[in-house]
Amino acid sequence: MYVPQQVLTNDDLAQRVETSDEWIRTRTGIARRRIAGPGETSSTMAIAAARAALQVADADPREIDLIIVGTTTPDYLFPSTACLVQNALGANRAGAFDLSAGCSGFVYALIMGHQAIASGEHRLVLVIGVDTLSRVVDWQDRNTCVLFGDGAGAVLLRASEGPAGVLATLLGADGSGGGLLIIPAGGSALPASEETVAKRLHAIQMNGQEVFRFATHIVEQATEQVVKKAGLKLEDIALIIPHQANLRIIQTAAKRLKLPLERFVINLEEYGNTSAASVPIALCEAIRDGRLAPGQNIVLLGFGAGLTWAAALLKWSVPAKAVVPGYRNLWRRWLYLWARWRSRGRQFLRHLNVRLIRLFTRNHRD
Ligand code: ACO
Repeated sequence: MYVPQQVLTNDDLAQRVETSDEWIRTRTGIARRRIAGPGETSSTMAIAAARAALQVADADPREIDLIIVGTTTPDYLFPSTACLVQNALGANRAGAFDLSAGCSGFVYALIMGHQAIASGEHRLVLVIGVDTLSRVVDWQDRNTCVLFGDGAGAVLLRASEGPAGVLATLLGADGSGGGLLIIPAGGSALPASEETVAKRLHAIQMNGQEVFRFATHIVEQATEQVVKKAGLKLEDIALIIPHQANLRIIQTAAKRLKLPLERFVINLEEYGNTSAASVPIALCEAIRDGRLAPGQNIVLLGFGAGLTWAAALLKWSVPAKAVVPGYRNLWRRWLYLWARWRSRGRQFLRHLNVRLIRLFTRNHRD
């Protein structure tokens, strides 16, 4: 996982808009969030998270078959953020694409990665959830700007035999709710213009109450459905890692599912809603805190803009962290350095090629 250094507290926000620490804490459970600094983007955070995942798994980036980045705040409309990650890692064999499913992006991407492995086509898939919502938030709109933060989380999926891994998955969408959480301008429907900028149409617009209603319902429903699909019961689930949108959403869902709140991973006090990054960041922290043990069943659950939702039930099989020899990390660092030079070399050769062709055609014409 990766989160920016810069912390924005509720008190900081209260100096920008008419709000208070007390209001934000009681209505959302959020105390602070991380905000990307100058030079930080979705790709830089995704690359940092991916490198951390490769280090933990002691994996070679050149063995990655596929990179899927769940994000709604890519660096550019194109090239995809996944391609920027592929280039920086030197993952020369990998296919790469972005997946847009709002805050469900990571769980959607994880399920696609799982399917790619299950098809027998791929063996090592890098799945990243990243968002830099601070760049698309209206900092004058207190209804939304208090909710979001920036960050990235990554996992590596590896083909393996055995009873562990992804046991059941669920994908859902209800496009009729698209307008409830939307950035109206910047796409083909409403390209950027002076008017769209003046009207702040490039920033998040949200019907908070409707999204809240949808979220509480879907956390309960999707959890029940995915558990049933796996042939298990709610009691068999050790941990639920839901999208970190609002503490009250998680509390309401826990109550309806008749599960203790301790069964949920909750870290939104620290990071706010980091959109597609929230589930993998919470997963990383659960691992760090020793809340996951091999053999346990866990549910990852995303919901968000679209409207979309996704759930994956996993039997955890990753053993406690083994110590990776220092030379392996040095080797990976060298590979990243080599990837940078290789990329620059390719750019230079392309440039040279174009120049030579121009020179040749000019001489030919003369
Ligand atoms: N500070 C102080 N007052 C505020 C603030 C604020 N930051 N924001 C809203 N208010 C005011 C409102 O203006 C309203 O005032 P009014 O009664 O005078 O009109 C009052 O507080 C109550 O507003 P509500 O919207 O009813 O507040 P609610 O309790 O519903 O909480 C919230 C609002 C936190 C946004 C809640 O609806 C929510 O969490 N919704 C879900 C949002 C969400 O999770 N979005 C992300 C989805 S995932 C994705 O894909 C990005």
